[in-house]
Amino acid sequence: MSSQITHVNASEHTIEGWLRKRSSVFTWRRYFVSLNEKRVVNYYARLDARQPVGTIRLSRRTKVSLDPKKEGGLIVHGEKTVRFAAESRRDAVLWKEMLQGAIAGTLLEATARVASDTADPPPKSPPEEFEDFFFDPSCYALSKAIGRGSYGLVVSGRDLRAELPCAIKKIGNAFADLVDAKRIVREIRLMHRLSHPNLLRIYDCYANGLDFDEIYIVTELLQTDLHDVIYARRPLSRAHVQFFCYQLLRGLEHMHAAGVLHRDVKPGNILLNEKCELKLCDFGLARCLTTDMTEYVVTRWYRAPELLLSSSYDGAVDLWSLGCVVAEMVERRPLFGGRDVIDQIRRVASAVKAVRPRDVAQLAFVTNHKARAYVMSIEANEHYDSWADVVPKLSDSKTGLDFLSSLLRFDPANRPSASRALKHPFLYSMVQELGNAATKTAPVDLADIERCPLDRAALQQILRLNDLRYTPPPAAINNNNNNPSDDDAAAADQHPATDNNGDEQKNP
Ligand SMILES: Nc1ncnc2c1ncn2[C@@H]1O[C@H](COP(=O)(O)OP(=O)(O)O)[C@@H](O)[C@H]1O
Ligand SMILES: [Mg+2]
Repeated sequence: MSSQITHVNASEHTIEGWLRKRSSVFTWRRYFVSLNEKRVVNYYARLDARQPVGTIRLSRRTKVSLDPKKEGGLIVHGEKTVRFAAESRRDAVLWKEMLQGAIAGTLLEATARVASDTADPPPKSPPEEFEDFFFDPSCYALSKAIGRGSYGLVVSGRDLRAELPCAIKKIGNAFADLVDAKRIVREIRLMHRLSHPNLLRIYDCYANGLDFDEIYIVTELLQTDLHDVIYARRPLSRAHVQFFCYQLLRGLEHMHAAGVLHRDVKPGNILLNEKCELKLCDFGLARCLTTDMTEYVVTRWYRAPELLLSSSYDGAVDLWSLGCVVAEMVERRPLFGGRDVIDQIRRVASAVKAVRPRDVAQLAFVTNHKARAYVMSIEANEHYDSWADVVPKLSDSKTGLDFLSSLLRFDPANRPSASRALKHPFLYSMVQELGNAATKTAPVDLADIERCPLDRAALQQILRLNDLRYTPPPAAINNNNNNPSDDDAAAADQHPATDNNGDEQKNP
């Protein structure tokens, strides 16, 4: 079992992770727990919750002990006893050390020790969970699981031929459902054809044996995704938000110019490295503009009104999703967290009606009568007068609010294109420093895939002939990501963490 201690920050002296706490004789609840040097243990119902559901204040008299037979123990402070359980014995020992460190005022040493303990050394042989992971050991060495998506496991590893770290995404049962299979074939083609510093680069694609039951996509490796960064309990600076928006828009501008929509822009599909360089990933739902558009697109919370209301759509859907992501970066909670599609429409329409009533007055783009009538019937949210009420943490930035509101226009025709959004004053300082020259691109041809019937052999033939190939990255990737242009070299030097929040001062 992998460690459930998700974050040990030696410089901030905090430890965070999942623990179970006994809430009655029979029930254990799982909480996200954060312990800091002030001897405060906060526990949260969810990773992204803002308010803890409970707090334990440790004192010098608090005692922590482990159950010798189990992966848990006791925290005894005064009259109260809290019984906790970790995911493994090793985790329980680490939590005990950290709790005792906090009590003794030596959390600094304890976090440093645990941070080095929990940094996974490369395993000598693949761990058990990779046993059903197919790979050629002369080409790849696997390290650890880094993500699990809708199709399967993503594992970090090393490309032994190029001597580079890589990520390998396994898609199991790839041809069990032929609609899914077509989506996968499309994803691989797009990854091979779209080459841009802000889009995840593919290194290799291979299948397991002749039956193609499993397909493996090998890409460059990044450290984390935006979801984890947003909920890491350390707010993002304004400069981070601007830098991430800039890079997202650069990636989207490139995709859209190639006639491709991403359609699933959300924090989990936005990868980041330690230099804050950003790459959009997961082209599983991406499609060319010219093809038949289906309704099955974009995770609900980031879904644009025209998709929720089953109208026709274009690249503006990605700009709406970007708006939702911007608000989530600032507020550290999803902007419109609808429980289902109807609730999602209600949340979106009631907010937009409150802050910009005229935007929801025409609704000419909503072709479905029932959908239009439903939107008309929704009351404006009485708590909001402007976007500053919806996203209060951005209320100190007039340009920030203006940028956000331009992306979150209800009618897609009123949203800017990615190129136009890059010209917004909110991104002025980024563009000044890093440039804004559009990268060259040609339309991606998916005609053979779109024409292909839902036929297992025919789809496999397309893959075999065109897309199952090793595309080793240029040697330069060793030093500096993927073959960066001048703009991107500048991006690498710029580290927004050192910047302040002063977007307004830099603007014209
Ligand atoms: N190249 C990579 N580097 C680092 N993490 C990755 C990489 N690719 C994927 N991940 C992680 O795995 C998760 C799932 O990958 P994704 O491609 O989005 O698959 P799915 O289509 O199943 O959602 C991502 O949210 C991310 O956390
Ligand atoms: Mg994904």
